[in-house]
Amino acid sequence: MNRMWSPLIRPIIEKINAQYIVEVGSATGVNTWNILEYCRNHEAHMTAIDPFPAFDVDKYKKEFGNKFEICPKLSLDALPHLKDYDVVLLDGDHNWYTVYHELKVIDENFKDKKFPVIFLHDVGWPYARRDGYYNPENVPEKFRQPYAKAGMRIGREKLINQSGVRGGVNSDLYNAVDENTPRNGVLTAAEDFVKESNLNLSLEVVNPRAFHGLGILYPESAEMKKIVKDVIKSTDLRYSLAKIKSSIKIFLKGYYNPNS
Ligand SMILES: C[S@@+](CC[C@H](N)C(=O)[O-])C[C@H]1O[C@@H](n2cnc3c(N)ncnc32)[C@H](O)[C@@H]1O
Repeated sequence: MNRMWSPLIRPIIEKINAQYIVEVGSATGVNTWNILEYCRNHEAHMTAIDPFPAFDVDKYKKEFGNKFEICPKLSLDALPHLKDYDVVLLDGDHNWYTVYHELKVIDENFKDKKFPVIFLHDVGWPYARRDGYYNPENVPEKFRQPYAKAGMRIGREKLINQSGVRGGVNSDLYNAVDENTPRNGVLTAAEDFVKESNLNLSLEVVNPRAFHGLGILYPESAEMKKIVKDVIKSTDLRYSLAKIKSSIKIFLKGYYNPNS
């Protein structure tokens, strides 16, 4: 998700002037540091939730003081206790059960308040329509897909070693054996949540093929739609290339026909 920070996430949170940001899944703390730099420059603060933060927490505390809070727990244990944030970055355990219930907890916490803007990582392949499990034991059995420690390949619904071939993406992680089944994957979780919600929410899926895709879930309003669309448009490579092409055309037209 950290690769989406500069082109997509920071421009949006700057436009809405977010004051309290929650990050689920910090790993090596690259994005945590990004968020904290934003906080320092915008008088904001953040909470990072990760049961196994893989960075020097004391260094972050020293550098950012009270802008930074860390909650070394699973998201579903930590989120119910956090209130009144403007933005959440969901990048923890990439499976239907966890993401769907993270969204449900947020929904419950924001009853009668303005729903936050939520960035979801991994709404593209491989975890859009297939669960991954950091620790399968964290997911109740009835919500757990049949899984194996085996890799994935785009276009194949079964895991790679299931068909006698080794290799594939994330072969050292627990992945659902099947893809594209109900209650399976991060995008399915976000869509199921939106379908069931009484709130008027928009879900944008940005670049599902780049960096595993970014979902942006936000309370529908003309103002917010414009912010999100403008940022997406300005970062879309095809859009930028089309702009470059048309300026070359205009330049060449002027070059060959000085009267034009
Ligand atoms: C993909 S990494 C996060 C990458 C990070 N957001 C970035 O952009 O660099 C996922 C992290 O989520 C953490 N994690 C796994 N399950 C979690 C859960 N249920 N709640 C919170 N964090 C979780 C893992 O410990 C891991 O550090």
